[in-house]
Amino acid sequence: MRFECTALSKSYETRGGRVTALDKVSFGAQGHEFIGVVGPSGCGKTTLLKLIAGLIEPTSGTVRVTRDEPNGGPSSAFVFQDHGLFPWMTVLDNVAFGLEMQGVGRRERRDRSRTFIERVGLRTFVDSYPHQLSVGMRQRVGIVRAFVTDPPLLLMDEPFGALDSQTRRVLQAELRSCGGSNAALSSS
Ligand SMILES: Nc1ncnc2c1ncn2[C@@H]1O[C@H](COP(=O)(O)OP(=O)(O)OP(=O)(O)O)[C@@H](O)[C@H]1O
Ligand SMILES: [Mg+2]
Repeated sequence: MRFECTALSKSYETRGGRVTALDKVSFGAQGHEFIGVVGPSGCGKTTLLKLIAGLIEPTSGTVRVTRDEPNGGPSSAFVFQDHGLFPWMTVLDNVAFGLEMQGVGRRERRDRSRTFIERVGLRTFVDSYPHQLSVGMRQRVGIVRAFVTDPPLLLMDEPFGALDSQTRRVLQAELRSCGGSNAALSSS
């Protein structure tokens, strides 16, 4: 897969006036690349990732995502800075949701989801709801929810911020083992 941002700009209209979050950003990436986006709070990292995911529209400029196999599921998965879990779903259902959307059968999606959940030490919490977890535990669920679908492009918004160093290492190793033509873009 490949993606290309060309002269990407995003402004928000607020009560205090117009806020320019991104101004003519151009860059691209392709499979097997890992790109880190680093910058101070408010510089536009989340905005950039959401534009690439297609969650928000640019004010001007373009994002082009080209897939190797055009018909197989969504182009990207997103790890939200604030985890973005569905509060009414259990840990297992949250993780399995993306697979359900891809049409994976119930047995297989539950098995695959359980494997990932266990790898991040949450085996006993599969049937818990997000409000019953700590911040770092919710973040782990948000990460495995994206990993489990094995997306061509993995977009992660400060994914390891609330994790202890041991869990961070486990997830970094997991990320490195993502094979195929995957690319990853992460803010930190
Ligand atoms: N929905 C919105 N409405 C109005 N302004 C917004 C909106 N989202 C972001 N902004 C503004 O755009 C700028 C960039 O915000 P963004 O969230 O992309 O920054 P960030 O680099 O991710 O920051 P942080 O490191 O704190 O998460 C900020 O000035 C912010 O106030
Ligand atoms: Mg942010």
